[in-house]
Amino acid sequence: MSSTQRRIILVTGANKGVGFWIVKKLVEQKSNYEETVVLLGSRNVKRGQDALIKLGSPSNVFLLQLDTSSLESIIRVTNEIQQKYTGQLDVIINNAGISVKELSVDAARQTFATNYYGVKLLNEHLLPFLREHGRIINVSSQIGPMTLYETSKGIQEKYTASTLTFTELDSLVEDFIAAIKTNTLDAAGYSIKSCSPIYGMSKAALNALTQVEMRQWKNMKNLLIVSVTPGFCATDINDNAPDARPVEFGADSILHAVNSPLGELENGAFYRDGEQLPFISKPIPRDQWKNVSKELNQK
Ligand SMILES: NC(=O)c1ccc[n+]([C@@H]2O[C@H](COP(=O)([O-])OP(=O)(O)OC[C@H]3O[C@@H](n4cnc5c(N)ncnc54)[C@H](OP(=O)(O)O)[C@@H]3O)[C@@H](O)[C@H]2O)c1
Repeated sequence: MSSTQRRIILVTGANKGVGFWIVKKLVEQKSNYEETVVLLGSRNVKRGQDALIKLGSPSNVFLLQLDTSSLESIIRVTNEIQQKYTGQLDVIINNAGISVKELSVDAARQTFATNYYGVKLLNEHLLPFLREHGRIINVSSQIGPMTLYETSKGIQEKYTASTLTFTELDSLVEDFIAAIKTNTLDAAGYSIKSCSPIYGMSKAALNALTQVEMRQWKNMKNLLIVSVTPGFCATDINDNAPDARPVEFGADSILHAVNSPLGELENGAFYRDGEQLPFISKPIPRDQWKNVSKELNQK
């Protein structure tokens, strides 16, 4: 790949769902075709190749095998970007994510490996590649703030502290997993009645990570680092819920943060469809999610 001026965008977990639609929309915008190179991340090569074919094998999209839960895979991809793709990036979209329903240490390890530690490690490794005004977009969920709402005041304060460090945040994550192991979630200040405690806490941790990364890195190369939720949209992660909005809308929510003019978004903040959301928010009962989706679709 020769040109250094084309915008280079990496999307993780892009073989299906929101990630696939982000890539599809990026290549469908005619002007983007000549200006943008997309690295389509997929942990499985075959699924990635199938996605490329579904997109019509555009010449500006390249497959990158990347399992974000594996340090070895992150290191391999770092070298690959350095050698094959000029070692430069403009946008990292940390979209890969999982939701495991059961409440167990294994489920927590698996979930946090992708939704939290994977994002953290990938961003650390790729940070040197980001160009001036580069962007990091951590794909989060409103379940994060809703799950944090149901934790003790002490936990809420720790997750949202303006002095929180990488090390302290890792400790908070490990405390949560330890409380699952010892069956002491309630006593430790977490709520097991929240709709998906592990997934929810992984996204609360991701929002906190966005804030820490912003504080540590924003002055380096004028980076923009934000969390963005696609909103409740129908994909495999929710068994294509019939009451969710179409996945294209979710991709638009992420692309808003990719394309927003310089200075429009607040660094470190959390967004959906360009609207800033709080880091702690009162849970919306599951049977009302449909109404939220409907309202958003009408905007
Ligand atoms: N859909 C919603 O309503 C909703 C709402 C809020 C937030 N989100 C977030 O949006 C993001 C995309 O989710 P989605 O709805 O599009 O779900 P999805 O259809 O299940 O897609 C998830 C994608 O992530 C990939 N993935 C999972 N673990 C990975 C890993 N360790 N390494 C690399 N790729 C991995 C999957 O790959 P495989 O095909 O190999 O499994 C798949 O490509 C997630 O972060 C999710 O938490 C979704």
